[in-house]
Amino acid sequence: MKGSFITFEGIDGSGKTTQLNKLAESLRNSGRDVLVTCEPGGTPLGKEIRKAFLETKQDVEPLAELLLFAADRAQHVQHLIRPALAAGRIVISDRYADATVAYQGAGRGFDLELVERVIAIATNGLKPDLTLFFDIDPHQAVDRMAFRGEHKMNRMDLESLEFYTRVREGYLKIAAAEPKRFRVIDAGRSVDEIAEETLEIVKENLARV
Ligand code: TMP
Repeated sequence: MKGSFITFEGIDGSGKTTQLNKLAESLRNSGRDVLVTCEPGGTPLGKEIRKAFLETKQDVEPLAELLLFAADRAQHVQHLIRPALAAGRIVISDRYADATVAYQGAGRGFDLELVERVIAIATNGLKPDLTLFFDIDPHQAVDRMAFRGEHKMNRMDLESLEFYTRVREGYLKIAAAEPKRFRVIDAGRSVDEIAEETLEIVKENLARV
């Protein structure tokens, strides 16, 4: 029995987490066994890693950041994602390896070959069956984050508009390279319109597996 591995990606403020919760609810209502998880922080160790480097005022070295995302992912893949897939579950993760390509590769400027090597080590080759990229204009995303000002922002939320523009371009490059796996969804529309398209794409994908 093999489950299905779906990942959600987008720049901060894209609304992907709202969509992820709506999708999980729709799938559960139709009787599917769904595991919702996230990166970083999908496991107890991952939560500690997340806290240590995202919720800190310390100056975090970009290489340390790259490796800490990878450490979180290695634990996540082995302890949570692979066992759930082996049990036939649908795993939906709020971010996965494409985030490292977009944020650390395109955003921070790490060499893409190095980033891919680190990802290959951390994931041991596990790739999502489907990735949904919630595409939003970085200006709109930054406005949304400012609006959410009441929440505690993490270190990455405080990055600049230029940074998010590079991250978005990084994601769009993946979309161009892997159009079957990596689907782009216009996240500038209403929550319901986006949810409808998301569910349609996922159902179509699950029917094929
Ligand atoms: P989030 O849980 O609110 O999405 O915050 C996690 C932050 O970490 C977000 O700004 C994206 C960033 N991130 C990376 O830079 N690289 C990664 O590999 C992952 C998984 C997240």
